[in-house]
Amino acid sequence: MPTNSSSLHLPFGENKNAQWYGKDILSVKQFSRADLEYIFGVAHEMRGMVERVGTFDLLKGKILANLFYEPSTRTSSSFTAAMERLGGSVIPISEVKYSSVTKGESLSDTIRTLECYADVIVLRHPETGSAEIAAKAAKKPILNAGDGVGEHPTQALLDAFTIKAELGKLDNLTVTMLGDLKYGRTVHSLARLLSNFTNIKLNYVSPDILKMPKEVLDEVAEKKVPQAEYSSLEKILPETDVLYVTRVQKERFEDPADYEKVKGAYVIDPEIMKPAKKEMIVMHPLPRVGEISTDFDDDPRAAYFRQMEYGLYVRMALLAMVLGKA
Ligand code: NCD
Repeated sequence: MPTNSSSLHLPFGENKNAQWYGKDILSVKQFSRADLEYIFGVAHEMRGMVERVGTFDLLKGKILANLFYEPSTRTSSSFTAAMERLGGSVIPISEVKYSSVTKGESLSDTIRTLECYADVIVLRHPETGSAEIAAKAAKKPILNAGDGVGEHPTQALLDAFTIKAELGKLDNLTVTMLGDLKYGRTVHSLARLLSNFTNIKLNYVSPDILKMPKEVLDEVAEKKVPQAEYSSLEKILPETDVLYVTRVQKERFEDPADYEKVKGAYVIDPEIMKPAKKEMIVMHPLPRVGEISTDFDDDPRAAYFRQMEYGLYVRMALLAMVLGKA
């Protein structure tokens, strides 16, 4: 979304009165539609800046602590790239086994430590609610990069930014989420976030044991967004504008036998996609482990690689905002 005047505060220091200065980003529940439009506007400007100059000094001298208690490729490297493209630097802690966490240090104490050295902390942790615990312990902003099966707000923001960039709108869309809707935190956040828009219809396709949690269904229903659950994609694929595919979250299953039963439940390939619209997109937060055949990668509707790039701009926007520079 282009803005008339630049919302980047270059080079006049941080604006402590800016709406997002010092704020945590813990859940998509904290965003109104106006907030989302503002974030996408800043992300759009970031995209323009990266295309024009690559790296610039908006966050020069600022330090990000990237604290990952769970594996990550995209989220951690895109936050690193985002910080470095803004001229800041990063303390990477992804091997928590080499940190004092192994000695039994609590999350709160680890956070209190890191905020002595960093201006902002990105946290991924296996427990739902961990980002909130971290935010209580910290004076500096905490950005939730995934808290167990809870939420993944920065992913949902980049997902929505992708939809807007690819389809030109976030209203009047049928979005079909497919796969592991029970344990997939990205879909928990995305369903909630999309419920801020007008004339959205959400379809959920999953095996019976991996349905969208009731808590999410209830919250979305409160916003009067129509939702429907299916076990097969066939009937609703032709009406779908966004097909959001997810990985079955093996690491979250209590019984490995249950995982074996559902792991190959859905596979998107060129044949299955034949009845879908020409103007639609297929998204995936990645990593994929077989849910989308590589044969589909060259289809123009395959948006999952472009989606990763949009993540860089959204994360640049969020860092600039919470550090009072946008
Ligand atoms: C997702 C996650 O960590 O929740 N990955 C990501 O951040 N892009 C999805 C997944 O792991 O399946």
